[in-house]
Amino acid sequence: MKVFRTIQGIKRHIDKKKASKASIGFVPTMGYIHKGHLSLIKAARRQNDIVVMSIFVNPAQFGPKEDYMRYPRDLRRDEKLAKAEGADAIFYPSVEMMYPRGYRTYVDVKDITDKLCGESRPGHFRGVATVVAKLFNIVSPDRAYFGQKDAQQVIVIKRMVKDLNMDIHIMAMPTIRERDGLAMSSRNVYLSKRERQDALVLHESLDLAKDMIGSGVRDAKKVKSSMEKLINSKETARVDYISISDITDLREVRSVGKDALIALAARIGKTRLIDNIVIGKW
Ligand code: PAJ
Repeated sequence: MKVFRTIQGIKRHIDKKKASKASIGFVPTMGYIHKGHLSLIKAARRQNDIVVMSIFVNPAQFGPKEDYMRYPRDLRRDEKLAKAEGADAIFYPSVEMMYPRGYRTYVDVKDITDKLCGESRPGHFRGVATVVAKLFNIVSPDRAYFGQKDAQQVIVIKRMVKDLNMDIHIMAMPTIRERDGLAMSSRNVYLSKRERQDALVLHESLDLAKDMIGSGVRDAKKVKSSMEKLINSKETARVDYISISDITDLREVRSVGKDALIALAARIGKTRLIDNIVIGKW
């Protein structure tokens, strides 16, 4: 497995592979990889000749008060894990390379980026769409793999690819969880023992929603308020948002019908975590 630190380097490598008609599977990440990331590499491995993973902690998607500086980083560890899972190359650019002096271009996907996480993280999805568009242009993959854990991100990227006529298949893969149900996240390392225990309430509240809906409750407000009560009952947990929305345009629904995205964000201590489930078709 090779690590490329320059845009020219990875492009040259990909050009060579494409000349021999190899298909390219791409897994963009911010590193500190865990089994969630590895499941994306595994899926890419199955469906493509070449698997490229990028590791780039993208400053453009962090707010000024967010954890950009302290976001966990460990290239050595990531290299080993990615190699063992069968990745062929890692693209590991610097901030100066991705956003050189004079950089001015951003990708703004309208409306769906203002809702859910976009409301408490203004500019976040602009940063995500911009870096993913850049990475797509650099890696020119046939397929790119994203986790359903970040459901809104998948929806935004799918919209961007459609709107900008990019010939890339966006593959949405299921959320990988710890044995006790907590969704895997690079940010879980921030949690104290107590917070780690309280964090279970995120997926428990989603299970509660599923049960309520399964037993015939249709009133979204009722479901959301039961979830909120459960989450806020934990001492270190505070709800940021709970949303039950239409899976395509992320508009809040009043009545839970066939297909819906149930998504939430909560602060556990100082750490903001997200989770979601999809009812019906994804
Ligand atoms: P990052 O948080 O590193 O996640 C990289 C990819 O792994 C994303 O597609 C994310 O949805 C997926 N992922 C994370 N946790 C997962 C889990 N528990 N199960 C399945 N997949 C999981 O998301 C980003 O980075 C960035 O926003 C990025 C797309 C790289 C742009 O900077």
